Amino acid sequence: MTDAADPLDAGERLGAEELRALQLERLRASLRHAYEHVPFYRESFDKAGVRPEDCRTLADLARFPFTTKADLRANYPYGMFAVPRERIRRLHASSGTTGQPTVVGYTDRDLSVWADLVARSLRAAGGRPGDVVHVAYGYGLFTGGLGAHYGAERLGCTVVPASGGMTARQVRLIMDLEPSVIMVTPSYMLTLLDEFERQGVDPRGTSLRVGVFGAEPWTEPMRREIEERFAIDAVDIYGLSEVMGPGVAQECAETKDGLHVWEDHFYPEIVDPVTGEVLPEGERGELVFTSLTKEAMPVIRYRTRDLTRLLPGTARVFRRMEKITGRSDDMVILRGVNVFPTQIEEIVLRTPGVAPHFQLRLTREGRLDALTVRAEARPDAPPEVREAAARSIVAAVKDGVGVSVRAEIVEPESLERSVGKIRRIVDLRPRDDG
Ligand code: DLL
Repeated sequence: MTDAADPLDAGERLGAEELRALQLERLRASLRHAYEHVPFYRESFDKAGVRPEDCRTLADLARFPFTTKADLRANYPYGMFAVPRERIRRLHASSGTTGQPTVVGYTDRDLSVWADLVARSLRAAGGRPGDVVHVAYGYGLFTGGLGAHYGAERLGCTVVPASGGMTARQVRLIMDLEPSVIMVTPSYMLTLLDEFERQGVDPRGTSLRVGVFGAEPWTEPMRREIEERFAIDAVDIYGLSEVMGPGVAQECAETKDGLHVWEDHFYPEIVDPVTGEVLPEGERGELVFTSLTKEAMPVIRYRTRDLTRLLPGTARVFRRMEKITGRSDDMVILRGVNVFPTQIEEIVLRTPGVAPHFQLRLTREGRLDALTVRAEARPDAPPEVREAAARSIVAAVKDGVGVSVRAEIVEPESLERSVGKIRRIVDLRPRDDG
């Protein structure tokens, strides 16, 4: 599919007009496929009074109804599939915060497209055939581990399927097997950093050259922290199980300017999270995806709840999405002000004397919600630096986000460490049971 002289695959070499034409053709086929084979889509299109053939331009997609996580739950487990169960070669599932699972499925061809797109992502990240790739995303029902794994194999790499956890062993594997690429959540990379230091190994001295980080929001200051501490290039990979898994969008190593959406397979829109109206390019809102080539489980206008904006392509013909600000579900509304964990991350990471570990604790005082930023001191930070750090975080949040919070600088290594996706918000508010 790719060769060393021309690292781009056929999809990446399309011209802008060719890409739009291919998208329209695939979009129409995908709408037809969903309408003809999934009762849920037939009903929802009929209810909205639209037929697949009404999609004559890419903009016509806006006439079609959205699909939400609740729709997937309502059709659990196999109701969203567009092919007979015998053609489903693999299932993945997400447990979701409410405990009600959703299941996704893949045909042989879907798995092959997925591997191609992760291979494309890895190459954009700076990976090359022959690299040793350490995969520390969790293996199992989560799409991270297996998604990364088959993509790295497809690119022609040697894969170390480490999965998440057993942190001391991860360090040993990295020292012994000398990977040049690591694929892991950014928060677990920080856990690995602690472990390197605990074992007295210089994290800047490893064979690692590139880190491909995703599955959770992370910020530019976090990129700088990781790049600096490990002496690697850190790039962003995005995806979600409902749409495929990792490899829906990827940042290019040479530009590090947001993630190119692999638009020959997934059509992105940005909508107003409240009204659902499609927003013009460049405006921030909720990311919505329509799959263009999926067989087993096509998704039409799937509401991701991820907030970002679309920008023109740079290193690739495909449009870019800005780094995700957060999910609408992770947004805290504090006295009318929207607060995202990423905004706090940016502040904590630029505060002297504080380690890149923090947690947001939500409590209720009387009728008001209160937010406490708990951040860890760096081991060498004296008491006066810690006090200054707390004051500086409070002031920066007031200034930058527009809301009053408390800040507590806690002892080094006292906050819970991530082994996969980190949970930033600890909600201690009493539940309103009505
Ligand atoms: O997290 C797939 C994945 C695995 C992506 C490994 C990248 C690397 P889910 O468990 O279904 O799938 O969770 C999807 O995670 O809607 C976002 O809210 C969040 N997310 C994923 N990648 C990023 C990222 C995988 N690069 C949900 N930046 C998505 C910010 C991300 N958030």
